[in-house]
Amino acid sequence: MRSLFYTHFFFPIFVIMKNILVTGGAGFIGSHTAVELIAAGYGVIIVDNLSNADTTCLDGVSKITGIKIPFYKVDCCDKREMQKIFQENEIDGAIHFAAFKAVGESVQKPLMYYYNNISSFTTLLEVMVESGGGNVVFSSSATVYGQADVLPVTEETPRKTAISPYGNTKQICEDILQDAVRAHSGLQGVILRYFNPIGAHPSALIGELPRGIPNNLVPFITQTAAGIRRELQIFGNDYNTPDGTALRDYIDIVDLAAAHVLALKRMTDHKGAGKCEIFNVGTGVPVSVMELVLKFQEVNKVNLKYKITGRREGDVEAIWADTSLANKILGWKTSRPIEETLANAWAWEKKLRGIIS
Ligand code: WQD
Repeated sequence: MRSLFYTHFFFPIFVIMKNILVTGGAGFIGSHTAVELIAAGYGVIIVDNLSNADTTCLDGVSKITGIKIPFYKVDCCDKREMQKIFQENEIDGAIHFAAFKAVGESVQKPLMYYYNNISSFTTLLEVMVESGGGNVVFSSSATVYGQADVLPVTEETPRKTAISPYGNTKQICEDILQDAVRAHSGLQGVILRYFNPIGAHPSALIGELPRGIPNNLVPFITQTAAGIRRELQIFGNDYNTPDGTALRDYIDIVDLAAAHVLALKRMTDHKGAGKCEIFNVGTGVPVSVMELVLKFQEVNKVNLKYKITGRREGDVEAIWADTSLANKILGWKTSRPIEETLANAWAWEKKLRGIIS
């Protein structure tokens, strides 16, 4: 797809549309980000090997935007295929979501995680540098902090030794991007450390659709409410927290997607040129597992079957973000209350399963 020119209705100005490659764009965060990119006037190209997603969300993105996004079913580790994508398209930047993300699975299959999560990123960066560089947003995670000594965490909070191969791949990829930006002047980078992405697009046309049994809390909740899962297990209520269950910073997926557009703008404006800036992307508000379960029931008027079980290995007791840097530098902040987010999550699940209520 060549860069597209279009004239504005009133003024004869030409705007060159920048094209962004979204790796893992068929997934939860990638699909929502594709919608926000298009709304912001970007061209979007999606590459995804569909190992952990199907085309449901791609179809949803097309329905929401009215645009059939160019899609390549390609593994980002396949350098020849990635080179072909860059030869066939004029790509100005990339947002890298493509990675395996199940903490527990990474402990069982570390080699698969190290190969996939690191090689997919180094391959993307190699091909970008060969093609003249560009702007890169890397999808990192609060997991890089481990159990922080002081909360909320800022971007200066030291990263602890990762407690899972998944978390280690995020730390390693952050370092890779930092070094690559330093070595290649044509490359700019921004690292976004997500806290806990939840919810769904208000259209209920895209949302979280994990393959198999969900690892994450909210999709397990919505599938339990939909009768797909028998009951929710709450992993531990003996933490040193107000109600004994673990604390997290749950961020609305559409708010999270918007942060990526502002991260690209930051680089387009060259405000962060020559360095790879890092931003926490959360709400700054800690919410416990039990609070979230009760809020979900209240907002959606459903009764969830749940039981308290033992702690899950690898979980931290509490983590939430200091988001002042993203607020100040990117001009980004969350706008959706958790009630709206949980209502959207349930609306998506109901639509997906054909539940009328
Ligand atoms: C949240 C809380 C669980 C499931 C991980 C990654 C992070 C990101 C999100 C990719 C914890 C509890 C969960 C369940 C439960 N990954 N829980 N019963 O572990 O905070 O973060 O996933 O985007 O990078 O680190 O998220 O949703 O798995 O767990 O009680 O069936 O819910 O113990 O306290 P987590 P999560």
